[in-house]
Amino acid sequence: MLVGIVDGEIAGNCQIVFNHRHKTKHRASVAITIISKYWNLGIGTAMMQKMISLAKNQGIMQMELEFIEGNKRARALYEKMGFSIVAEKPNAILLKDGTLLKEYFMVKEL
Ligand SMILES: CC(C)(COP(=O)(O)OP(=O)(O)OC[C@H]1O[C@@H](n2cnc3c(N)ncnc32)[C@H](O)[C@@H]1OP(=O)(O)O)[C@@H](O)C(=O)NCCC(=O)NCCS
Repeated sequence: MLVGIVDGEIAGNCQIVFNHRHKTKHRASVAITIISKYWNLGIGTAMMQKMISLAKNQGIMQMELEFIEGNKRARALYEKMGFSIVAEKPNAILLKDGTLLKEYFMVKEL
């Protein structure tokens, strides 16, 4: 996990999870969250670049992540970093008002 700190305050974090089993050790999954007041400053881009660099150094062949339908900001960041949607899970999220949202799966080959 990497933590971003601005003026002593946590601005966000990200994590990359490596697999240790022989058949899946070529894959790594990533997640990222930035506190809203720090959005659109490039912190997410910098964190993604760092995780891609870490993955390359570990010999990872495929990076993976998920995002929820409607999260345009996340989708824009991930597509900019070279991730593509490969699958979707219907009805993954049920909101209080009854709205059902999909979860999208993305991968980036290194
Ligand atoms: C998604 C998230 C990590 C992006 O972090 P960030 O630090 O704002 O990212 P950056 O500033 O590096 O880049 C944001 C990009 O999204 C674009 N963007 C912002 N709002 C957008 C919108 N409504 N629609 C499309 N693109 C948008 C920006 O233009 C920028 O792209 P650019 O660099 O090509 O101009 C951050 O918004 C976040 O933490 N959101 C809440 C938690 C979350 O959704 N995490 C991901 C779960 S899958």
